[in-house]
Amino acid sequence: MATPVLVIYGGQSSEHEISCRSANFIIKTLRNRADVCLGVIGIDREGAWHPQDPKKLVSLSQETLPILKDLRLPEEDPGKSWNPAGRIVSYMEKLSSRALNTKDICVFMVTHGTNGEDGNLQGFLELTGFSYIGPDTLGSAIGMDKEISKILIERAGLNVAPFFAVRREKWSSIGKDSILKAALDLGFPLYVKPASLGSSVGISKVSHQQELESAIALAFEFDEKILIETGLDIREIELAALGTYIPEVSRPGEINATAEFYTFEAKYLSATGATIQVPAAIDAKSEAYVRELTVKAFEALQLYGIARIDWFLEKKTGKFYFNEVNTLPGFTSISQYPKLWEASGLDSSTLLRKMIDLGLKRRELRNSLNRNQK
Ligand SMILES: Nc1ncnc2c1ncn2[C@@H]1O[C@H](COP(=O)(O)OP(=O)(O)O)[C@@H](O)[C@H]1O
Ligand SMILES: [Mg+2]
Repeated sequence: MATPVLVIYGGQSSEHEISCRSANFIIKTLRNRADVCLGVIGIDREGAWHPQDPKKLVSLSQETLPILKDLRLPEEDPGKSWNPAGRIVSYMEKLSSRALNTKDICVFMVTHGTNGEDGNLQGFLELTGFSYIGPDTLGSAIGMDKEISKILIERAGLNVAPFFAVRREKWSSIGKDSILKAALDLGFPLYVKPASLGSSVGISKVSHQQELESAIALAFEFDEKILIETGLDIREIELAALGTYIPEVSRPGEINATAEFYTFEAKYLSATGATIQVPAAIDAKSEAYVRELTVKAFEALQLYGIARIDWFLEKKTGKFYFNEVNTLPGFTSISQYPKLWEASGLDSSTLLRKMIDLGLKRRELRNSLNRNQK
């Protein structure tokens, strides 16, 4: 029997647009699988949920999917116990022509960033009993917060660039001078970045003291907490992880940004902004080592299902530093996560199916727990 899979995309995040692109790839790949019965919901920029007609979406030839607003979820069935997910279940039941429970439905969220990747949506899916891909509420929240993830990584004995985090309230009320001094103590160049964003939004590389305040102000436009960290002279190495709590790890890939660093423009807008080399040109020993580090990082960050883990390889020392984790990495045909798996012998369609199976498996693991103290 085909597994009911609900793709959710869009969302109220600065990465809305990227999500619509990832969804295009995922929906079109999943539509070709006979073992998947696909439903789709788009979340618009105001946060409203819109069920989609999957056939109609697939027939659109554009790269970035629109969110259509001409369908409505079925009214709630009064015979079912009250549950905010009831209307979603009814929608999926219609598509699959059979009775379903939330746990039978695997939600495949493609909602990068705020509210979709940070544990909020995962919490809703836990509460309502859906299966879903990727890390749970805790793993997603940890992965989203660059300060907390780095603290856990350090605790596991792995390297991170020297850094500290500051809240906007502190910056505006008590401590501009002490914060600026602490930043200067880290030494230039510095990177100033929002704690919980992605896609390089709000990030600056600062090489002179006079640019520091405006870089901090910019990062605070996007987040209440920012990180200031030492800029390292590095190569950027990324790996994909897939599995239960102890994952399989792909071969590494290398990003070569042509700009000063790997900016939003280089990631998404410019055809020449970055080259991606898979597998990365590093020796076999370094490759084995960074794959081992990736498993350790995945465990330290309480992850499950999938993650892309990004490392800095310091040029002068050959040391690996953890940079960040993406628990819902970009998912277009040219994105790193599927490409890394392809280079490791796993095609995208099989990869998506494995992600779904892992989501269903976690729900089984959770349902087998004793919640009654008996
Ligand atoms: N400490 C650092 N040293 C060197 N380069 C950095 C550092 N921090 C960030 N960068 C550069 O900025 C890019 C974006 O930073 P990152 O922390 O990965 O944010 P995002 O979550 O937006 O991808 C990195 O890919 C890298 O090119
Ligand atoms: Mg990054």
